[in-house]
Amino acid sequence: MVRLIGKNKIKTAVFISGTGSNFKNLIKFSKYRRSPIQINCVISDNKKAKGLIYAKKFRIKKKIFCFDKEKKNEKKILDFLKKNQVGLICLAGFMKILSKNFIKKFNGKILNIHPSLLPKYKGLNTHQRVLNNNEKFSGCTVHLVNSKLDSGKIILQKKVKIFKNDNSKILAKRILKKEHILYPKAIIKIFSNL
Ligand code: GRF
Repeated sequence: MVRLIGKNKIKTAVFISGTGSNFKNLIKFSKYRRSPIQINCVISDNKKAKGLIYAKKFRIKKKIFCFDKEKKNEKKILDFLKKNQVGLICLAGFMKILSKNFIKKFNGKILNIHPSLLPKYKGLNTHQRVLNNNEKFSGCTVHLVNSKLDSGKIILQKKVKIFKNDNSKILAKRILKKEHILYPKAIIKIFSNL
C-alpha cells in the first residue's frame, strides 16, 4: 500500500444533516498518518445540523447547500467540490438523496454508512423495524452509493448482537460505536490497493 502523506491525501468532503458523530470520528481518523484521507470540507443541507460545531472546532471549511435537485443548485455544489479538488465524498447521517447526475459525476467515489446489515433494512427507522421483527442481530454497513437507496456495493459490515431489553435508542447507540470503527476501516480497505 502506498502511504499518502500530507498534501497527497485524498481530499474528502463529508456530508451531514444531524449530530455528526461520524464526521467527528472521520476528522480524528484523517489525522493519523496511516489515513489515506484529509477532510477538506463539511457540507450540509441543514444549517442547524449539530455536527457543524466540529467544523469550527477543527477548522474545517463548512458549506450549506440546497439539495432540491434544481440544476442550478446542484451545479453550485459540483463547482464547489471541483474547486476544492474533492476526490471522495463520505455521507455520514446525510438525509438527502443525491441525484443520478450527481452520483454519475462522482461514480465510485461516494461512500455511505447505514445502520443495518444491508441489504436488509434499507431506508429510515431501521432499528425499530429490526426490533419489531425480533432479529437476533443487526449492525452497520459501509457501501458505495449508486442511484438506488442503500444499494451500492458493500465495502464492509459489522454485526452487532441484539439483547432482550434493547429499545431502538439503546440499539442505535451500540451500533453507532461500531460505525465509528467501521467507517475508517472501510476507507483504508478502499485505498489499500493504490
Ligand atoms: C448513523 O447511525 C448513520 O449510520 C446513519 O445516521 C446516523 C448518523 O449519526 N446514516 P451521526 O450524525 O454521524 O452521529
